[in-house]
Amino acid sequence: MSVLSGKNILLGVTAGIAAYKSTYLVRLFIKAGAHVKVIMTPASKDFVTPLTLSTLSKNPVHSAFYTKEDENELWNNHVDLALWADYMIIAPATANTLSKMTNGTCDNLLLATYLSAKCKVFFAPAMDLDMYKHTSTLKNLKKLESYGNIMIPAESGELASGLHGEGRMAEPENMVSFIEKEILSGLPLKDKQVLITAGPTYEAIDPVRFIGNHSSGKMGFELAKEAANLGADVILVSGPSNENVNHSLIKRVDVVSAAQMYTAVHQYFNDCNIAILSAAVADFRPVSIASGKIKKKNGLTIELAQTKDILASLGEEKKDQFLVGFALETDNELENAKGKLQRKNLDLIVLNSLNDKGAGFKKATNKVTIIDAEEQCFEFELKSKTEVAKDIFNEIIKRL
Ligand code: CTP
Repeated sequence: MSVLSGKNILLGVTAGIAAYKSTYLVRLFIKAGAHVKVIMTPASKDFVTPLTLSTLSKNPVHSAFYTKEDENELWNNHVDLALWADYMIIAPATANTLSKMTNGTCDNLLLATYLSAKCKVFFAPAMDLDMYKHTSTLKNLKKLESYGNIMIPAESGELASGLHGEGRMAEPENMVSFIEKEILSGLPLKDKQVLITAGPTYEAIDPVRFIGNHSSGKMGFELAKEAANLGADVILVSGPSNENVNHSLIKRVDVVSAAQMYTAVHQYFNDCNIAILSAAVADFRPVSIASGKIKKKNGLTIELAQTKDILASLGEEKKDQFLVGFALETDNELENAKGKLQRKNLDLIVLNSLNDKGAGFKKATNKVTIIDAEEQCFEFELKSKTEVAKDIFNEIIKRL
């Protein structure tokens, strides 16, 4: 999965021959999982049709301040478009548009939206060799960078005029990897390694039966996705779970039992910066596993032994890792969670109370209280587990 997945990208197309490459760019953004809207300058429609771009982006293309539909005139609100965008990308950016952008000229919808944009703005210059080298163009490029806009450098090669040199808009694949790298470099967990446990563990009784619990793994998977979205390299050690994840920054390690989870976690803990143990690890395992299926009989006693507490073992071992545990409680919730925080030498503990409606196993939502090492408590509303993962990382990042 790309860092662009789920992001809103506003693509501005201006009137240069490289506009045909914008169609490929839209395809690549969509393939990366982004939502795309396109704004064209009126003159760019001579180079590529709005129909092509609307079909590829799966959204209407805007090029004027209002759209005439039958007798209704619809206002294309540049402020709404700008606020919708997580990233704005102007590609190709002609010398004319670059000049207007530097001066704050606002004579078309694209420029008005650019002026309203609060998000990161990328621009990909595209023009002929001598225009690209002209002092005024070079000045404009510098000025736009000083405004905080990010230039996707033009490439060298054969230009539409037949000349050879710099000025050619970057190839769409190169633009996408440039944008992805740039986004990643600004993320708060870049270069951090995050270890997460998720799901239940299964403790075998015989070859067909086990002791398990109702954990779905959803909370841990959401934490892994959020960590990756924040730029971290993630190791997700998961017990049996139907959850799926597909992200280039997440390495999934599947385990079944508490003992296997213990080994996997210890293999990665030394190199990690943050460890979040959200798995519902079985506290007991059968002392011996029957080699064949246990036959029906009148009653059965299974002797159980305690599993090793993975979180507590990390608390003993930790050097400068930031260690986060979970506590699922039914009584004396705060007191028990604070006890676990101290006993297991944690930096944060996330408390779920089974008394809260909508919290706990197999739900898409959760209601948590986060307690830090100073025993300060932060209580959150009932939210989707995706949002809860964001809250947890906000609290972690504040304390790193
Ligand atoms: N945990 C763990 N290894 C275990 C048991 C629990 O790593 N063998 C971790 C969980 O992943 C969670 C935290 O410990 O982050 C708390 O688990 P919980 O079951 O609530 O607490 P316990 O310490 O097992 O205490 P109790 O069961 O008595 O409430």
